[in-house]
Amino acid sequence: MASPLFEPFQLGKLTLRNRLVRSATHEGLGLPDGLPDAKLPPLLARLASGGVGLIISAHTAVLASGKASDYQLTFDQEACVEAWRPIVANVHECGGKIILQLAHAGGNARHAAIAAGPSPFTGASGAVCRELTLAEIAGIPAAFAAAAARAERAGFDGVQLHAGHGYLISEFLSPVYNHRGDAYGGAFENRVRLLLEVCDAVRGAVGPDFPILAKINSEDFFAGGFSVEESAAAAGLLAARGLAAIELSGGLPVSGPKLSPVRTVDVALPDDPVYYEAAARRIRAAIDIPVILVGGIRFPATAERLLRDGVCDLVSMCRPLIREPELPARWAAGDRRKADCISCNGCFRPAMTGRGLYCTADKREDATSKC
Ligand SMILES: Cc1cc2nc3c(=O)[nH]c(=O)nc-3n(C[C@H](O)[C@H](O)[C@H](O)COP(=O)(O)O)c2cc1C
Repeated sequence: MASPLFEPFQLGKLTLRNRLVRSATHEGLGLPDGLPDAKLPPLLARLASGGVGLIISAHTAVLASGKASDYQLTFDQEACVEAWRPIVANVHECGGKIILQLAHAGGNARHAAIAAGPSPFTGASGAVCRELTLAEIAGIPAAFAAAAARAERAGFDGVQLHAGHGYLISEFLSPVYNHRGDAYGGAFENRVRLLLEVCDAVRGAVGPDFPILAKINSEDFFAGGFSVEESAAAAGLLAARGLAAIELSGGLPVSGPKLSPVRTVDVALPDDPVYYEAAARRIRAAIDIPVILVGGIRFPATAERLLRDGVCDLVSMCRPLIREPELPARWAAGDRRKADCISCNGCFRPAMTGRGLYCTADKREDATSKC
């Protein structure tokens, strides 16, 4: 039987060559001004040449004050358009497609000086973050919209709103972080408001058929957090607004290593459920736009099972493609061994310290090839 993994897929106006997605990955290759380091274009070209159908960029801050960490990309200035245009064109020449992930770190910024969220909480900096004022919240959708418009001008194939993992939009969605008593806190309708405002502002800033995606938590995996029911409801609201697809992830930085967005859990067998499989079944049944599923997908047989069983429309991987950027080509060529990734998270160390992105378990140096 032919593998459904390598069938083309229509994502809005975008024709993808197959069903494999590189999930957003912070490569740690942003210069101090947020523009891309020279090591980033060859890394992206290598991924595109390695056969993945769609690349989602690193989380890219829409404002300098929304940076999660050092070495992060930003899309807060016009200079980004010219800097990215040739990089995007090269991905296209290598046969790939690339979507820009737009983000704001909120209260989980690693620098305490800029950390600000829906309510005060102890964030990734170790300090208690500041509460955003209503005037500051009002500026967030416009910042996402301006960055999305720049992304479209740079030639990106779409944008993805990062609404998961305990960053700003996810903080508003989550009762763990959001204790506001105004129109942005309390009931689900209030906690989802910022996400919908961002979505509407971005829609108004780009062409009518420019694909807008969102990555959301299927649940927070933390007591009292955003639940799978709320995730399905949020996905329904996004679908009604014409989003091109939803990528389902899960967890918060405080969820612990086995339940965080980057679980140190290696799925052992092809038939074992992947991290958010049960949630994806439920959420996909409730919405009429494509679902992308990320987390723990390591076997081609798992990916095929997820597609054949209707759990999702596209399968997304992050860490396996750090270790093996050519994994899609390997599987397509018939070498169906499991991805070599062991889910150890060693890849964070170089990416967070300005050494680029590579697998420390493999001792592989950062990529240098062009297509
Ligand atoms: C080094 C590294 C960087 C990441 N950067 C991002 C990011 O920028 N945006 C994002 O949404 N998720 C990011 N993630 C999470 C992944 O996209 C993905 O959701 C998670 O790793 C689970 O998928 P996997 O099991 O295929 O690795 C990152 C993960 C790793 C390991």
